[in-house]
Parts: sequence; structure tokens; C-alpha cells
Amino acid sequence: MLLHIDEVVCGVGRTGTWFGYQHYGIKPDFVTMAKGVASGYAAIACMVTTEEVFGMFKDDAADPMNYFRDISTFGGCTAGPAAALENMRIIEDENLLENCAAMGERMTANLTALMEKHAVIGDVRGKGLFQGIELVKDRETKEPVD
Ligand SMILES: Cc1ncc(COP(=O)(O)O)c(C=O)c1O
Repeated sequence: MLLHIDEVVCGVGRTGTWFGYQHYGIKPDFVTMAKGVASGYAAIACMVTTEEVFGMFKDDAADPMNYFRDISTFGGCTAGPAAALENMRIIEDENLLENCAAMGERMTANLTALMEKHAVIGDVRGKGLFQGIELVKDRETKEPVD
């Protein structure tokens, strides 16, 4: 069975690691990503897979041009990838993964503190700067607000 992980929202640093799945000790066969790849500054999305899966689409392993192609009107436009590479350089150079993890801990602590004041907050969950607040009518039953 092949495992596909969708990192469109939680990938590329949002949770304090390059990918959200890295918190769970799992190894995907496909990873899709988009929004964070160029931090929203350019339109780019991609799917990454393993050599093993890539090889399944080849009829003749010896022919370097014999591979699966996903062709589209603007496929091959270099603006998106250029923005993505620069974005990843900035994430590395400015230690933004570590910063996200640290700011995430602060965010979790502050959001959790809000639970003492507001009964409507049933739970606070997340990793890094990818956080959710569950709004409930009743904290015990977890019945959601209307
Ligand atoms: C988790 C998730 N996966 C996939 C998508 C679709 O992404 P795209 O519009 O780049 O195809 C979205 C869009 O918001 C999303 O939030």
C-alpha cells in the first residue's frame, strides 16, 4: 500500500519541521504541497515521490526520456520554482523552522491560557504555528457551537 501525505496546509515549515508528517515517524510515498512552497508569493504546487514509485511509470529504465509527464499550459514556467528556491533559502538562512517551533510553543501556551477565561474553547490543538481552537457548547460533551 502506498501512503500519500497532503502537506498543502501543514508543509514547508508551518509546524516547525519541513513537513508535518516528520512529527510522526512515518515515511510517505507521495507528498503533495502548495501554499508554503513559495510562502504564497508565487503560484506553485508540486508532488514529490520516491525513486521507486517514479520508476513504476517507466517502460524502459535505460531511456532517460521515458518517464511520466504531467503536461500543462504553463508547465515549465520558471517563476514559481525560482520563488520557491529563494523561499527555502530564506527559511534555512533565517532559521525559520526553529523560530516556528519556538513561536508555536508560545502560541500553544497563550491559546491554552484562554481556556481558563472562555468556556466556549473546548480544546486547543496543533504543532508549531499550525493551531486550531475547537469551539464547543459544552467542554465535557464536546458538543460544537452552532
Ligand atoms: C489540505 C489541502 N489540500 C489540498 C488543497 C488544494 O490545494 P490546491 O488548490 O493547490 O490544489 C487545499 C486547499 O486549500 C488544502 O487545504
